[in-house]
Amino acid sequence: MEQTTIPQITLNNGVTIPQLGFGVFQIPPAETKDAVLAALEAGYRHIDTAQMYGNEREVGEAVRESGVPREDVFVTSKLNNNAHDPEVARTATARSIDALGIGPLDLYLIHWPMPGVGDYVETWRAMERFAEDGHARAVGVSNFQPAHLERLFAETDIVPAVNQIEVHPYLSQVSLREFNRSHGIATEAWSPIAQGDVLDDAVLGSVAAETDRTVAQVTLRWHLQHGNIVFPKSVTPARIAENAALFDFALTAEQMARIDALNVDRRRGPHPDEFTMIPD
Ligand SMILES: NC(=O)c1ccc[n+]([C@@H]2O[C@H](COP(=O)([O-])OP(=O)(O)OC[C@H]3O[C@@H](n4cnc5c(N)ncnc54)[C@H](OP(=O)(O)O)[C@@H]3O)[C@@H](O)[C@H]2O)c1
Repeated sequence: MEQTTIPQITLNNGVTIPQLGFGVFQIPPAETKDAVLAALEAGYRHIDTAQMYGNEREVGEAVRESGVPREDVFVTSKLNNNAHDPEVARTATARSIDALGIGPLDLYLIHWPMPGVGDYVETWRAMERFAEDGHARAVGVSNFQPAHLERLFAETDIVPAVNQIEVHPYLSQVSLREFNRSHGIATEAWSPIAQGDVLDDAVLGSVAAETDRTVAQVTLRWHLQHGNIVFPKSVTPARIAENAALFDFALTAEQMARIDALNVDRRRGPHPDEFTMIPD
């Protein structure tokens, strides 16, 4: 696959992001470098990591050793849930940048709003300062509901560039995606194949048969045609390549509608309003 075939999305501050990336959640540090190198070899130019994943150092090693110029790889990390206090956030951010060892981040997100634990508005003001100080080319949020975003719009200066939320055919998030879009916020879809949950779906299976593609490819193509930014995770080189072979076919409006109809509002992760515990 040619890297040039991956579309770019222009964020609200003019920064461009490849619409397809590679996620590294739950990849153990010892396996991360090889997985990211395989992804870069397969043509991915966007990596999604987080302080919580514990593998930023290995992501950075892979980017540095890949031979791909740094400016050609878009790297996202996320502020951990135990680092919302602005002073703690400053230290955590410095540690992330040091661990990655590739200069400023391309995108830096608040991982979860954690309502009830601290004040994510104060945390967002710290994120604004990180952007102003050149630590990230763009800043955004993850798992924010409209009420959380409305407070940022009212009380702070920068509109988040992205909102990274759980989206897949069983949780299509029509209204939140539309809310994001109406405010100029790009939607990033985490767990785009529902961590494998959608792979045995009969409707997706029939669309896969009609298009001579796999269920994973059909599902990822559905995301792309809805404008979502996706970063499927895999440690399996054949799947890493499969998940990037998405740009030489298209779903019809009728196939898109059949997949849209699969929504049952079923989450893999917690609801952001209820997720207030600091995980282990
Ligand atoms: N912001 C947040 O709160 C948040 C939360 C969750 C995830 N994320 C981000 O979203 C990324 C993707 O989500 P995810 O890792 O949860 O789940 P996912 O990408 O939806 O699914 C990953 C799972 O599917 C399997 N898989 C991948 N491609 C496949 C294929 N072509 N055929 C069959 N099985 C396949 C993988 O297995 P193998 O690895 O064994 O091949 C793995 O078990 C994460 O890595 C992370 O960057 C963010």
